[in-house]
Amino acid sequence: MADTPANNAPRRVAVVTGASRGIGKAIALQLAGSGCHVALISRSAGPLSEVRSLIEEAGGSASVHAVDAADSGRLAETIESIASDQGRLDILVNNAGITRDNLALRMSDEDFDTVINVNLKACFVACRAAIRPMMKNKWGRIINIGSTSGVVGNPGQANYAAAKAGLVGMSKSLAREIGGKGITVNVIAPGFIETDMTAGLPENIKTQLTANLAVKRLGAVEDIAHAVAYVASEGAGYLTGQCLCVDGGLTMC
Ligand code: NAI
Repeated sequence: MADTPANNAPRRVAVVTGASRGIGKAIALQLAGSGCHVALISRSAGPLSEVRSLIEEAGGSASVHAVDAADSGRLAETIESIASDQGRLDILVNNAGITRDNLALRMSDEDFDTVINVNLKACFVACRAAIRPMMKNKWGRIINIGSTSGVVGNPGQANYAAAKAGLVGMSKSLAREIGGKGITVNVIAPGFIETDMTAGLPENIKTQLTANLAVKRLGAVEDIAHAVAYVASEGAGYLTGQCLCVDGGLTMC
């Protein structure tokens, strides 16, 4: 199993934020399936407990942590306590994200700040809390879930695209800071993936979007989870500071 340390070493411990549904849930199931204990973080415990049950029914291991990622203090404390309770922290996937779309002329300061706080600042706070326990074991995989909006822009998403582009600069900087300690830091930037976040888009827009994709289909959550599994694996130790667009050929950059 790619994510399990060799030679009977303890199982790897992964933290996944926004793990209650959509892409985060698929990532959590994927990492648990490859042998990791997965600490599930999201705002409310109920949906996370359902994900934990799925993991446990399949023979895996998971824990539930209800935290608002915008609460920096609690987020950092939670990650530190996961690392201390489990005795290690190997993989961090910053996936929790929100949108507050509007054209720039109508976008409020509040909607700008809220998106930056959840989609960018919380990821920094989580990375900072995870780095120390990863350094202790001289091994770590940090994966920040960006977006193709942060790479090529998207009208109505100045706040979201700024946060997601910010993740790329932050991840490259961290990659340079801690690469020598065996820790890689990468961004995975999904294109259009069918989840609750994108459920509201009208069918004609989805049809247009699909026509522009090289693979001629919208993305599934598993498309992102498989990419995360590779970037989190033992074999991906030479991949760092990258922004991997998993987008069906939308951007090709
Ligand atoms: P979703 O809306 O289905 O799920 C988001 C998850 O984040 C949920 O578990 C939610 O509870 C959690 N979350 C939101 N705000 C939170 C907060 N303040 N504290 C803790 N947890 C919070 O979204 P989806 O589609 O699964 O997206 C996951 C990530 O992928 C996001 O970062 C999103 O920006 C990114 N993405 C999604 C795309 C798509 O097409 N669905 C495209 C590009 C990027």
